[in-house]
Amino acid sequence: MKIPQASPKMLAFEGLWKELFSSPVHLDSALSKASPKHKNLLAQAVPSILLRPTTLAECAGVGVAPGEPWNLDAAQLAEWPAARGIAERIFEGTLEPRRYSKARAEDFPPALHEEWTRDWGAEGARQLAATLGVEAPLGLRAKRAVGPAALAKELAPRLPVRTTVSDISPLGVRLGGYAPILGTEAALRGDFEIQDEGSQLMALFALWPELYGPLLSEAPGAVRVGQAVPEVPAQVPPWTVVDACAGAGGKTLALADLLGGKGRVYAYDTSMRKLQALRRRAKHAGINNFQAVALSVGQEAETVRRFRRRAQAVLVDAPCSGWGILRRNPDIKWRQDPDALARMPGIQKRLLGLYSDLVAPGGQLTFGVCTFRKAETLEVVESFLAEHPDFERGPGGYVGPGPCDGFFMQAFRRKSG
Ligand SMILES: C[S@@+](CC[C@H](N)C(=O)[O-])C[C@H]1O[C@@H](n2cnc3c(N)ncnc32)[C@H](O)[C@@H]1O
Repeated sequence: MKIPQASPKMLAFEGLWKELFSSPVHLDSALSKASPKHKNLLAQAVPSILLRPTTLAECAGVGVAPGEPWNLDAAQLAEWPAARGIAERIFEGTLEPRRYSKARAEDFPPALHEEWTRDWGAEGARQLAATLGVEAPLGLRAKRAVGPAALAKELAPRLPVRTTVSDISPLGVRLGGYAPILGTEAALRGDFEIQDEGSQLMALFALWPELYGPLLSEAPGAVRVGQAVPEVPAQVPPWTVVDACAGAGGKTLALADLLGGKGRVYAYDTSMRKLQALRRRAKHAGINNFQAVALSVGQEAETVRRFRRRAQAVLVDAPCSGWGILRRNPDIKWRQDPDALARMPGIQKRLLGLYSDLVAPGGQLTFGVCTFRKAETLEVVESFLAEHPDFERGPGGYVGPGPCDGFFMQAFRRKSG
C-alpha cells in the first residue's frame, strides 16, 4: 500500500509545532523562520490552535482524551495528533477557526483556571477564559504630534480591518485584527508605534495617575468605556523619569513622546539585546530625549545609589506571569513552570523596593504588570506599603483583558518630609 505523502503545508506545520515543544523558542521567533510561502498560513493556524486547542479539536472532529493536552509532556505535545488533525482541517478549508472563537476552561491548563477561580470567582474565571482564548485586537499609539484621529483617518481607507480611535488611550487607534500596516506611509514616517492600548494607558498613568486612574477597575476583564478619555495634558513638566524595566521600550517611547521632548527618560534593563531594539525603534520614531542604561543582574543597586531620589516619576513594569497577554503569546500557557510562577512575586517585590529608591521626595512610583494574579498584583502592593512607610498609596487597578491586553498598575507617592 502506498503511504500518502504529507503536503508541504503540513510538513511546514509539523516542523514549526515540533520546534515549539522541543526548545524554549517563542512562537514569534519560530514563525519568523518559516518559509515566506507558508508564513501567513501558519501565522493564522498555529496561534488559533494554541489559543483554543480543545475547542478546535472537538470542532474538527478529531477528538481528545479527557485532560488533554494538559496532561502531556513536551515530547508528547510535539507529536500531539489532535494538533495535526486540526491543522489538516484548516488547510483543507473545512475548519475556519474564527467561527469557533469561544474558548472554555478546557482550553487552559487546569492550574491556571483554578487560580483564576480562586482569585476572581467562577464567573470571573469563565469570562477570562472566553476573552483569553480569542485573537487580540491590534493597538497603535499615534505620536503626540500626529494624534489618533488623523492617523485613523489616514489608515482606515488603506486597511482591510475596522480602524477606530481608542476609547482607552487618548493616543490610541484600534484595528479590528491583523492588517499589513508596516508598509504604510504613516509607518515609514514613524507616525505610530504598535502598542497595546492598555500598555499606552500604563505610560500615561505613570505620569498622571490621578487623571488616568479613574479608567481602572477593581477586577480584571472590565474596561470602563463610555466615558470620555482624558486628553493628554498640554503642559508637560520637564521631568526626570526612569523606566526601570524598559525592555524593548514600548513604554519608554510613549513616555518620551508624552514629555514632548522636554524631560528625559532613563530606560534601564538587564537585557542588552532589548535595549538595542529600543535604540533602533527610537531612531525610527525620531525620539531623542531618552537614555538607555544596561544594568548587570545583582549590581543594579550601584546605579540606583548614584541616582538616589532624583526622579520625579519611576515606572517599574516588572517581569510577570504574562497572563494578561496570553492572547498575544498563546504559547506561554503551554509551558508554565510552577516554580517560575511561585518566584514572580518575590522578583517583583525586590525590583519595586530597589527602584523606589530613585523616587524624589513628593515624586511618584508606579508598579505595573501584564497579569491579574492577586499574588503578583494586590499582594505585592500590600507588601510594598507595609515595608515602605515613606510611600503612600495612590490610585490603582486593572484594565482588560478585553478590547486591550490585561494590565494592573498601582501608583505610590513618596512623602515629602
Ligand atoms: C514586562 S517586561 C518590560 C516591558 C517593557 N516595559 C515594554 O513596555 O515593552 C520586564 C523587563 O524587565 C527586565 N528585567 C528583569 N530583571 C531586571 C532588573 N533586575 N532590572 C531591570 N530590568 C529587569 C526584563 O529584561 C524585561 O525586559
